[in-house]
Amino acid sequence: MGQRFSQWYETRLFDGAMELFDSDSMRDLRRKVFENLRWEDSSETPKILEIGVGAGLNLPYYPEWVTELYSASLSPTFPPKAKRRAAERNLTIHHEQSRPVGLPYSDDTFDFVVATLILCSVDDRAAFVKEVHRVLKPGGKYLFMDHAWHTSESQTIASRVIAPLHRRVALGCRIGRTWDEKIYTSSGFRKEDLHVECENPKGFSWLVGKVFYGYAKKQQ
Ligand SMILES: C[S@@+](CC[C@H](N)C(=O)[O-])C[C@H]1O[C@@H](n2cnc3c(N)ncnc32)[C@H](O)[C@@H]1O
Repeated sequence: MGQRFSQWYETRLFDGAMELFDSDSMRDLRRKVFENLRWEDSSETPKILEIGVGAGLNLPYYPEWVTELYSASLSPTFPPKAKRRAAERNLTIHHEQSRPVGLPYSDDTFDFVVATLILCSVDDRAAFVKEVHRVLKPGGKYLFMDHAWHTSESQTIASRVIAPLHRRVALGCRIGRTWDEKIYTSSGFRKEDLHVECENPKGFSWLVGKVFYGYAKKQQ
């Protein structure tokens, strides 16, 4: 695929499809993820990074006090649909193109890292989480929401059949992966600092499994 086509595909077609699939239950889950973005120190503004912003469907859920956001994604520019949502929120964006592993930031840079529906697309999930851990400040939080199958359940037949095609059209998204706590605990986060909830997204669980969301806190 040419570079211009793949960029058009990702930022127009795919991000447009993500908008269509942003159901009430997904919006509710995004709202719950952002309940963990809390900041009590009024003398300092926290530094926040979102990885893989896509259509910017998380942007309406950032609290009012967030006025500045760092963004890292495969796209060379901040994606157009996200740009519109950032403008509606009056957010100042600092965007960098990056691969998921090898983020262009120093160690201990951010108070929060947000990455939703990204782990399904990265080749090495533990390497991605390790990179998030590296750029978080001690005490900082990684806010996540990802779909995966529960270890105790087996995929539906429909899901197995659709998986290879889905991976091709959905930017590498794998729908057969299972949730694994070790992705976090082998990447620097302690088990006691990992807070995970699990829900069925209405309408999609037959295809993508469950949604796991919550946060992991880097040790002080
Ligand atoms: C399902 S979308 C999620 C977008 C957004 N975070 C959200 O919650 O709506 C998956 C995103 O992962 C990004 N992506 C795909 N492959 C990736 C990779 N290898 N590393 C990082 N991001 C990737 C794509 O750019 C796409 O925007």
